This record gives sequence, C-alpha cells and structure tokens, in this order.
Amino acid sequence: MYEFIYETLSSLGYTHPLHPTLTHLTIGLTMGAFIFALGGKLFRSGGMRMSARYCLGLALLALIPTALLGYMDWQYFYGGAWLFPFKVKLALAGLLTALLIATALLAERAEKRGTAPLFAYFLCLLCVVGLGYFGGELVYGKNFTAPAPAPPAPPAPLSEKTDVAPELASEGAAIFSSNCAMCHSADTTEEGIGPGLKGLFKRAAMPVSGRPASEETFRQQLRNPFQNMPPFPNLTEAQVDALIAYLKTV
Ligand code: HEC
Repeated sequence: MYEFIYETLSSLGYTHPLHPTLTHLTIGLTMGAFIFALGGKLFRSGGMRMSARYCLGLALLALIPTALLGYMDWQYFYGGAWLFPFKVKLALAGLLTALLIATALLAERAEKRGTAPLFAYFLCLLCVVGLGYFGGELVYGKNFTAPAPAPPAPPAPLSEKTDVAPELASEGAAIFSSNCAMCHSADTTEEGIGPGLKGLFKRAAMPVSGRPASEETFRQQLRNPFQNMPPFPNLTEAQVDALIAYLKTV
C-alpha cells in the first residue's frame, strides 16, 4: 500500500526516507518539555509548567505519524530487515510512548502541589536522545567505518551462464526481489538508490567501489558494505550463493 506513496513521491523527484522529515518534531518538543519543566521549577513558574505539559501532549501527537513513517521507511528502504538499530528504535519508541503518557499523568497530579515531575521529564529526554542516536547510527554508522581493503581475488571468469543451475538462479531471483530490488535493478546498469546490477559478474570492477567484480567482493559487500548500503547479516551462505547464481544470469 505505502509503496504507492514512495513511488508517487519519487516520480516528483523526492526519493528520501520520510521519517527524518518529522522526527525532529517529537525530539524537539520532548526537549522543550524538559526545559520548560526545569524553568518551572527554577522560577516557580506555573506558566512554564503549563508549557511543559503542552509540549508533552504535542510530542505524543507528533510521535504517532513519526513512528508510522519510520515503520514505512524501514519496510520500504530496508525490506524490514531486523538490523540491530531497528530493534533498539522499536523498543525505545514503545518506551517513549509509555514515558510521555506517564509523565503527563504525573505532571497533572504534581501541578496540584505546584511542582513538576522533573525526573520523569528527564527520562523522556534520555529516551529521545537514544532514538536520535540510533537513527544516526543507521544513516552514518556504517558509512563512517572505512571499507576494508579489497581482497586480491581475481575477477570471475566471463560467460559462466552454462554453469549456473537454473533452480539456484530462480531461488536467487526471489531473494533479490525481496531484499535488493527496492534499491537495485537487475535489468539495467542505471543507478536507482544503488547502482543497477545487470551483468555485474561480467564486468571487471564493482560499479561504485571499483573493487574487482568477484564473488568474494560480492560476499564482502553483503557483510560489510561499501558506504551507503545496509548490511545483510541475516542472509545465509546458501542464499548468497543463490544470489550470485542469479546475478550471473542477468
Ligand atoms: C537500502 C538500499 C539498498 C539495498 C536494500 C541493497 N543495496 Fe546494494 N547498494 C546500495 C547503495 C546505495 C550502493 C552504492 C554504494 C554507495 O553509494 O555507498 C550499493 C552498492 C551495491 C553493490 C556494488 C558495491 C561496489 O563495491 O561497488 C552491490 C554488488 C550491491 N549493492 C548488491 C546488493 C545486493 C545483492 C543486495 C540485496 C541482498 C543489496 N545490494 C541491497 C543500496 C542498497
């Protein structure tokens, strides 16, 4: 269903994930809530404490579309892969929802005594910082680790079509379509989100890194990708063999 949204946007020239467009709303409002609550305490200001509670409510409202877009991006750009940062982000998003609601309830009660539950506001703040950190980890984490030096593997021999078992190749095609096709086309060499992979093993070099277009480089690309691609630690050796068999046929 949501593929349609991304395809429409991309036909308009917008190809980025959607979650980052909203996420700062929740983060900013939660930070604002803490700052107002702190101000309310330091200056004994009822107005500031009220602003803190408004910020909490708005942060909670903003959290709903932000989490939804995060889920959509995860499915669309990462094929729903269970990468570590996603696990942490899902857990923290659940925790943040609970914390925001609990803090709002505590603040309501504390207001009768003219105070604010500063520690609860602070926990909300820690939680959004955690969410922000793991969002950054997804975008920048792998990119900033320098790619390992290219192994001196020789390029795969040309035209191996006859060596490829058809069942293995068709299994590989299915793995490709559910894990790679959202970023790569196998029908062209043109760039989508990632480079087109048609004829990959018939080339001398990999399209982006310029490493030798060998099976070894390919395996390495899935374990410890060059720059912007997510890793695929969940693919088994046999699945990678099938992917290689498939890509040799295109
Ligand atoms: C989320 C998008 C995304 C997914 C999913 C993805 N890739 Fe990539 N891939 C990229 C990008 C982007 C690059 C280009 C590297 C860069 O610009 O940092 C790339 C580069 C590559 C390269 C070239 C590496 C080089 O050394 O030049 C290969 C081969 C590759 N991907 C294979 C795959 C395979 C196979 C899968 C599926 C198991 C896959 N990719 C899934 C985004 C993706």
